[in-house]
Amino acid sequence: MSEHHRFAGRLRKLQKPDADLLRTFYLGLDAETRRSRFHAAVADDFVARHAAMLIADAVVYGFFLGDALVGVGELMLPQDRSGGLAEAAFVVAPQARRRGIATRLMSAVLRSAANRRCRTLSIVSLRDNWAMRKIASNLSARLSIAFDALEAEIAVPAPTALSVLREAMADVSDTLVSLAEDAGNRRQAAPA
Ligand SMILES: CC(C)(COP(=O)(O)OP(=O)(O)OC[C@H]1O[C@@H](n2cnc3c(N)ncnc32)[C@H](O)[C@@H]1OP(=O)(O)O)[C@@H](O)C(=O)NCCC(=O)NCCS
Repeated sequence: MSEHHRFAGRLRKLQKPDADLLRTFYLGLDAETRRSRFHAAVADDFVARHAAMLIADAVVYGFFLGDALVGVGELMLPQDRSGGLAEAAFVVAPQARRRGIATRLMSAVLRSAANRRCRTLSIVSLRDNWAMRKIASNLSARLSIAFDALEAEIAVPAPTALSVLREAMADVSDTLVSLAEDAGNRRQAAPA
């Protein structure tokens, strides 16, 4: 991805206080994007349940342009937390595509998968999803096709002291920024 195409946005993990934001993002996706992400035309209640499940059970990264959430990377860990095979998915708002956002979300998801000792990341998309194919082939993924589905299996690198430290430092920095933003919002809302 050439640098001049990139947006100078902010990437951070989404946590419980972001539940409404994430729900609104998914519910706002157009029909075609929903079909690409969920491989079917899904109703609002399905989408809302999915967003709630992510906040409760997954590692979720959001990409922001200003205050607007425009991209999400999902990492679903195995139920038994044994490592091994994890699942990932990505969605970027149509107006923000082809600027490297999914690629940046993928790097964060891959690092989190490594730090949780996952060995393989599986991403399932529709077989004609050329963007996902490109992202997967950039990572030398093993591709398999069944009917209209494409599964990409990506080998996750082993964690390193640096990968663990980078995720921990990003988490601390995100928490401090959130606290500062909350304090700023409270000051603005306070009567003069
Ligand atoms: C798939 C998706 C997440 C990609 O997001 P994105 O931010 O546009 O992706 P990037 O800008 O990081 O592009 C990654 C690569 O794919 C290529 N690419 C992006 N869109 C493409 C398209 N429509 N056709 C061909 N290649 C495409 C880019 O050129 C880039 O290649 P490069 O690394 O060689 O420069 C986005 O299209 C999307 O949200 N689609 C709907 C949901 C979905 O399909 N999710 C996948 C199933 S989990």
